[in-house]
Amino acid sequence: MSTAKQGHAQWSSRMGFVLAATGSAVGLGNIWKFPYMVGDSGGAAFVFIYLACIFLIGLPILVSEWLLGRRGQKNPINTMQEMAAVSGSSKLWVLVGLGGVLGAFLILSFYSVIGGWSLAYIKDALIGSFAGQDADGIGALFTGLLASPVTLIFWHSLFMLLTIGIVARGVTGGLEKAATLLMPALGVLLLLLVIYGMTTGGFGQALEFMFKPEWSQVDGGIILAALGHAFFTLSLGMGIMMAYGSYLGEDVNLLQSARTVVIMDTVIALAAGLAIFPIVFAEGLNLGEGPGLIFVTLPVAFGNITAGWLVGLAFFVLLTFAAITSAISLLEPVVEFVEERTPWGRVGSTLVAGCAAWALGVLALLSFNVLGDFLILGLNVFDLLDTLTSKFFLPLTGLGVIVFLAWRLDKEAVRKELGLDVYDFSLWNLIVRYLAPVGVIVVFFANL
Ligand code: PFF
Ligand code: NA
Repeated sequence: MSTAKQGHAQWSSRMGFVLAATGSAVGLGNIWKFPYMVGDSGGAAFVFIYLACIFLIGLPILVSEWLLGRRGQKNPINTMQEMAAVSGSSKLWVLVGLGGVLGAFLILSFYSVIGGWSLAYIKDALIGSFAGQDADGIGALFTGLLASPVTLIFWHSLFMLLTIGIVARGVTGGLEKAATLLMPALGVLLLLLVIYGMTTGGFGQALEFMFKPEWSQVDGGIILAALGHAFFTLSLGMGIMMAYGSYLGEDVNLLQSARTVVIMDTVIALAAGLAIFPIVFAEGLNLGEGPGLIFVTLPVAFGNITAGWLVGLAFFVLLTFAAITSAISLLEPVVEFVEERTPWGRVGSTLVAGCAAWALGVLALLSFNVLGDFLILGLNVFDLLDTLTSKFFLPLTGLGVIVFLAWRLDKEAVRKELGLDVYDFSLWNLIVRYLAPVGVIVVFFANL
């Protein structure tokens, strides 16, 4: 970023901006969460509904967040405050910004737990734990990890510390440079794992599972899950993309940039599924394995190919990197929120925000062992945090963003800003005024 004339910093290039947005978007949501949600929800029908949500709702909201951020040039809360004032709208719009910060905090707490699992598997790859193991051995390794609160706390703490360290020192720029190399590397590695999947004998079934829909299995719960995950995976509804937009120059084409980010995110998620499901079918594993799915499948591949420990090591290093770039984007807005309201300064605020999220994360990880039977509203802490954010906060704040943009801003100015001709703009309007909001409202309230 460089400092522009107005004083508010700006991205030094469109590329830097797209990279940062992709760094936030691509993470555990793609590689850890998407595949197990597909497994849990019965496959292809979920995939198609998810893709529809991504392109019809997620992409327009991504564009909307950037556009609002670029106009406001402030943090999301102040941006919403000011935009509401300028357009003569209710002060309550600030809730969209506030909900975002709270959502980011809650997600960070359990995100770090899974980032910790990824770190633990770096160690396992290094000491050769996967070598020669069959699916049972790999499964036992994961069960062992979950059973030990102390081990889980250790890795969760390490992940959170790394995130805190990076945010406190404000060295995210260096990460962006690293991302130019590491993101493509992650893509290539996933591709190799897809190719491995082709050799397992389970690839045909995996393709069918992921792309041949059985619509009869679809219910409201599955649609809400797909919608919520579309928000989660694109980092929407948390003001994060709005914050990125605030550093954006007038010359950047929002629709084009959004398309790039969305396509990269989608390709990585689909590739993760295509790497994982062949192993599930070839080894006769449980499709509904849940959050452990990636950790009981891919290591089977690492244990059975030449130099598998090295491939496994590279994979979990890259997964951890992708997770950290997302985690810092989750911590950043929370830190900013604390910093603006306290005398603690950058480092102090980062410590306080990070430690609070860490403590909540400890509760979340105990759901996998000692607190497994501790239920709130029928859910353990981990599931509660996940449900509360993906199925509640994200859809609602995302809805707020798109409704505000579509109904409270001057239409002609938005059309010019997006560089659309009248014809394309009527399609855009149809989507942002009716299709996307009505879709979110119907799905959301049908599930209450
Ligand atoms: N989009 C990230 C992922 O798919 O892993 C997770 C995430 C990051 C969600 C930042 C929300 C967010 F604000
Ligand atoms: Na993602």
